Amino acid sequence: MNISLFQAELLRWYEKEGRRTLPWRDRSMPNRPYRVLVSEIMLQQTQVKTILEHYYFPFLQKFPTLESLAKASEEEVLLQWRGMGYYTRARHLLKCAKICLRDFQGVLPDCVELLKTLPGIGSYTAGAVACFGFDRAVCFVDSNIKRILIRLFALYNPTQSLLESKAREILNIQHPFNHNQALIDLGALICTATNPKCLLCPVSEFCKGKEDLKALNLKKTPKSIKKSLHIGIFEKDSHIALHKSQERLYYNLYNFPLLKSHQSLQKLGILKHSYTKYLLDLHIYRVKNLESLAQSVEFFNKESLQTIPISSMTLKILELLEKDF
Ligand code: ADE
Repeated sequence: MNISLFQAELLRWYEKEGRRTLPWRDRSMPNRPYRVLVSEIMLQQTQVKTILEHYYFPFLQKFPTLESLAKASEEEVLLQWRGMGYYTRARHLLKCAKICLRDFQGVLPDCVELLKTLPGIGSYTAGAVACFGFDRAVCFVDSNIKRILIRLFALYNPTQSLLESKAREILNIQHPFNHNQALIDLGALICTATNPKCLLCPVSEFCKGKEDLKALNLKKTPKSIKKSLHIGIFEKDSHIALHKSQERLYYNLYNFPLLKSHQSLQKLGILKHSYTKYLLDLHIYRVKNLESLAQSVEFFNKESLQTIPISSMTLKILELLEKDF
């Protein structure tokens, strides 16, 4: 493959068709590394549109610098993260800011190896922060870039190290920022998992796998695990009972309490909710007696509900309670 031609075609396409106005791609903003870190952590499990509409700007308004984040409480950070799910990300981000304040003079390190030592930052995010935050000429492989490389080089059973060496082979060291953002966009807009748009692809002439795209895809993610939860709605004097979870994934978030037994209780409905690898059936009951609850609770009225970190699952139920029950 003629690498310089490939790089030039990719960049030309990015200048014309890429999502260059995404706010975390604005290189003139102050605190760029921190803003990039926040965006990359959010983008790990949440879609661009959701982040843009609900989370990225309010988070930066509340915590405009790494230092302001480092001084926040976990509860404040979880409150900003409310509804986005995968709350471990928020806890790691806070820890990360605290470590930078303590060990790195209040700034993010600018090299991949040090970034990888921070909580919640794996190889991909470390590469993305080094490149998009500090213009370092590094490459990285997330699932979208992996799919592009598998197809471009027709790699049927690639190891991680083969993928990394292919990413390095095509890296544009003169323009690493635009090159890597272009690859992300190519994966999101053209070289998609289903129905890739080869006719619109700026680098299809270089693609060895374009005749066999079905086989050249990522392995399917494993099926979700089904689980049923029986939870209780206990209301008294316009206050609702919630349990502060100590479970790892929901640590310090408020949820509706689980029930000791659901026999003979009034069922309000069933709701489906997925989180991480679980597909949950939430059986929801009206409870008249605190003894029916298997977990300790605290009480909140409408206003105080706005000030506590609540899981996405619980927000969904609260919305339904307002509308239907
Ligand atoms: N997903 C992960 N990183 C991204 C970025 N910088 N722009 C758009 N989507 C992304």
